[in-house]
Parts: sequence; C-alpha cells; structure tokens
Amino acid sequence: MIDLGGTQPPWPTRAADRFAACLAHAARSKDLWRVPAPQGEEGLRNRIGERFGLEPADITITSGIRAAALTYSRECKHILVERPTFPGVLHALGHSRAEVQQADWKQLLHGEIPAESAVWLTSPFRNPDGATLSAADHAALEDRAAAGHRVVVNAAYAWFADALQSVNGADTLGSFHKIAGHGVRLGWVHSRSYFERAVPELLGTTPPRVWQCAWSLFLDEEEFAILAASSVTSSRDAGLAFAEQARKRLGWHCPEGPHLLLRLKPGVTEDDAVSRLRAGGYSVAKGSAFGSPEPAIRISFLGVDPEDAATFADSAQTVALLAGPIGSDR
Ligand SMILES: Cc1ncc(COP(=O)(O)O)c(C=O)c1O
Repeated sequence: MIDLGGTQPPWPTRAADRFAACLAHAARSKDLWRVPAPQGEEGLRNRIGERFGLEPADITITSGIRAAALTYSRECKHILVERPTFPGVLHALGHSRAEVQQADWKQLLHGEIPAESAVWLTSPFRNPDGATLSAADHAALEDRAAAGHRVVVNAAYAWFADALQSVNGADTLGSFHKIAGHGVRLGWVHSRSYFERAVPELLGTTPPRVWQCAWSLFLDEEEFAILAASSVTSSRDAGLAFAEQARKRLGWHCPEGPHLLLRLKPGVTEDDAVSRLRAGGYSVAKGSAFGSPEPAIRISFLGVDPEDAATFADSAQTVALLAGPIGSDR
C-alpha cells in the first residue's frame, strides 16, 4: 500500500542516535529538573528565532499548535477559522465557550466579522490544499490586526518554505510535529502578548525543560538537518514528481506543497474514491474530513517515494476518479 495519508517517515537512525545523546546530556543537568522556565528554554527560543527570522524575546515554547489553541479558545469570544483546515485545530478550539465559525479566506480577510474576533488561518502550505497567503493577503491581515482582531497564523508547514513571511501584529504558531512526528509535542508562539495571556495553559502544558534543552542542543547538530531534510526534501521531491507527471498525463497544474486537495469527477463520491484507490494500492484521506468545499480527496507527499508519487498520477484509478487540484487558481 502506498501511503498518501500523511504518515510521518521514520527518523533516520543517525538522527535518532544523536537526539538520544542530546537528551542524555540534558538529563544530567540538575537545574533543568528543578528550576522552571515558563516562557521556554532560552537556547531553544534563540534557535527557533534564528531559523525563522523571529525575535526570540517574543517566542513562547508550547506543546504544539493544538496546545497553543487552548489559550485562544479560553480568551476569545468569537473565533473565525478558515475552511478548509486541519481538523485537529477545530477539536482543540471547539470545546470552549467561544463561538467558533468557519469561513473561507475571502470572508476572513475582507468580509464583515464580529468586533474583536480571532481570525485563524494556516500559511504557508495550508493543510489540506497547500494555499499560501499572498502579499495582498498579508496586507489585509495586517489591517485586521490593526482593527483590533486577533490574527493567528498557523505556520506548521514553515519548515517546507524557503522563508517564513510573518504578518505584522499577528501571532505566528509553529510546531516540530511535521519534522519529528506526532510524539514530539513541541512548538512555539511568536507574539507580543501570548506569554502573559497564556499563563493558565502554560502552567499545565509546557513541555519539560529537559526535553526543550535536548531539542535546543539537537538543533545545532548536523543530524537535525538530516531529520528535517528527510521530511521536507522527500515530500518536496514527491510533490514535484507528481506535479510533473500530472501535468504531462492529465494536463493539471498543481500548486507546489506537501499536500493537495484533488476534486472528484462528477458522480464520484468520497467513499467511492477512497475505497477504489485503496483497492488500487493507495491510501488517501477524504476531503470532507478537512471541510473541503466540494467532494475531494486529500493526498500528502510526506514520506512518499517520488516514483510512487509519479505512478499515482498515472494510475488507472486517478484517471477514472479525479478531476484536478482545488485551489491552484488562488
Ligand atoms: C495545519 C496543521 N496544524 C497543526 C498540526 C499539528 O501540530 P501540533 O502537533 O503541534 O498540534 C498539523 C498536523 O498535521 C497540521 O497539519
């Protein structure tokens, strides 16, 4: 079975060995076990700041994007979340007293929205369709922030872009999940105000200081670059191989990115598409799981061999069931 469902590739052995050494080193520091660092380990904030061009003093370490979402769900009365989006965020936001509504980027950026709303969207490479904010979208979001809205940009896929373009006045959220896997439970928020506002969540959810220190040491090592490349480069190569073959074979113009939303041919249901692709040896996700605006499947190139990605573009099931990428016209 070729997994186009977004399963994280296994860590290269060299990277796992080096991380284990960093963790052992951090674990021997007595202070890390007994002195708290509420905003997060300074070394780690510095490394993240260097990597993404962010001010370390404005970075707070979190247990990831969904952990950071808990603060917005406690604090904000109205939260407008992009549609489509990664459903894990809706689970994290959806169990609060906040009124959570979904809308497309046009509405989030230019429509009428309640005063002092939080506006939540993902860029670069939104999961599921790979959408990335344009320069004009950045300006519209800066206007939203200036008008008193709380703009939150989920930059989980910043690792996959050459540079992170942050939005002035917005909170930018990052995560190590897409580099290291589900179990890493480590992320950050870059914001002028998040740290003070997030104290109740940080008291209970901040990742252990030893863990943070181990990551800070590991980020300086060559093996971290190997780990990041194993996710980013393989996904990019597979995406390019798919796009190239889909252009030649099907005439599609696919946006660049680690995942794509592919619309279904008329009369094909998502259940049909998923089961017929599975019978053909491909595992994919339903677009509706992400709030796709029309029947679709979501494919991810994470951990996919470029040859397999190209073969998928050629497969009989793809030709019979799929009509092309959603969002390539943005
Ligand atoms: C857009 C997006 N945000 C967040 C996450 C999860 O990040 P975290 O584990 O830090 O909550 C994912 C994982 O797939 C994602 O696609």
